[in-house]
Amino acid sequence: MRKVVLITGASSGVGLALCRRLLEADDELHLCLACRNMGKAEAVRAALLASYPTSEVTTVQVDVSNLQSVLRASKELKQRFQRLDCLYLNAGIMPNPQLNIKAVFSGLFSRKVIHVFSTAEGLLTQDDKVTADGLQEVFETNVFGHFILVRRLWA
Ligand SMILES: NC(=O)c1ccc[n+]([C@@H]2O[C@H](COP(=O)([O-])OP(=O)(O)OC[C@H]3O[C@@H](n4cnc5c(N)ncnc54)[C@H](OP(=O)(O)O)[C@@H]3O)[C@@H](O)[C@H]2O)c1
Repeated sequence: MRKVVLITGASSGVGLALCRRLLEADDELHLCLACRNMGKAEAVRAALLASYPTSEVTTVQVDVSNLQSVLRASKELKQRFQRLDCLYLNAGIMPNPQLNIKAVFSGLFSRKVIHVFSTAEGLLTQDDKVTADGLQEVFETNVFGHFILVRRLWA
């Protein structure tokens, strides 16, 4: 029986490289690509099957920053698979820090100028939106969504 491996965020970057690495080691695996963008997921699926024709590659739609999507996907996965041998909880985001120009100028003219420019305190900002579930997007994507996914798969 094929081992089943679920990988979130398999559509690019580390997740995609991991898919290739896993199939390089065992081309009989069944990889399930858990992605939010099904267009990308299907393109990756086709590319993997072209390189590793003896493998089995399927997809499931999940947006880990959306609770409803995670609940729906976990239900679907439980119906589709009797067991999952490995989970790689790879999907994630990390917004790039931006320079806060206003803070640069107010730092320049403050009494704490040396402290501000030696530590960069307050000079960088990071845009972390709030999701429809009312959680910080980075937290829900990188941690909470995966936590609920695993809890539901094991429930
Ligand atoms: N690369 C690094 O140096 C580094 C360092 C430390 C930690 N990490 C962590 O390693 C993981 C992979 O990094 P990477 O460099 O490969 O990043 P990446 O190229 O940006 O890929 C991230 C993957 O996660 C998916 N994703 C993002 N938000 C999602 C959501 N809400 N629901 C479902 N899938 C979502 C993306 O899907 P889409 O294609 O739909 O956007 C993409 O497939 C991330 O968790 C990252 O935080 C990376």
